[in-house]
Amino acid sequence: MASLHVIDHPLIQHKISLMRDKNTGTKEFRELVSETAMLICYEATRDLPLKEIEMETPVCMAKTKIVSGHKLAFVPILRAGLGMIEGVTSLVPAAKIGHIGMFRDPETKESVKYYCKLPDDIAERDVILVDPMLATGNTAVSAITELKKLGVKNIKFMCIISSPEGAAAIIQNHPDVDIYCGTMDQGLNEDKYIVPGLGDAGDRIFGTK
Ligand code: URA
Repeated sequence: MASLHVIDHPLIQHKISLMRDKNTGTKEFRELVSETAMLICYEATRDLPLKEIEMETPVCMAKTKIVSGHKLAFVPILRAGLGMIEGVTSLVPAAKIGHIGMFRDPETKESVKYYCKLPDDIAERDVILVDPMLATGNTAVSAITELKKLGVKNIKFMCIISSPEGAAAIIQNHPDVDIYCGTMDQGLNEDKYIVPGLGDAGDRIFGTK
């Protein structure tokens, strides 16, 4: 059964408040997204398996631990997910990065994949899918379905702000996927924006509005 992790560390709450402010400019917003992604990723990687190794310190031989097990890939959902990549790869520099682009078909309202480029060995990797805003959950649910079709078995979803509707959609459709977010907001407005949210994350990261 999936679990929902709201990582409400004071630094994360503080940074999210700064991101919510409509007067926060592009440069600062982008830095905040990256820093918050790093802090949430710290928790999302808490269960990485370790193995014991032996090494020589300047003082003596020591048994000590390093990360082992499956290799990791981060997959940002285009385009806003790109803003989280610098932060998460600063924690796990050896991780590979794939990309998934999805858009909402205006007629069917379904999420349609328009781009997908993933590491060749994606089926052997644990994947952390990243998107700053989990709103309706349609895009996240479709992206997870795509990864599963390619054989990925262990998927986590990481966002900065979740709506209750989005989290419920993932839990209902993909009960094996753990969700990590920095805050759970009130819900969605009629335009499917998260309330209070922070507006359009992609526009604010890339300065397109
Ligand atoms: N995507 C965004 O960037 N913001 C929202 O509030 C919802 C979806």
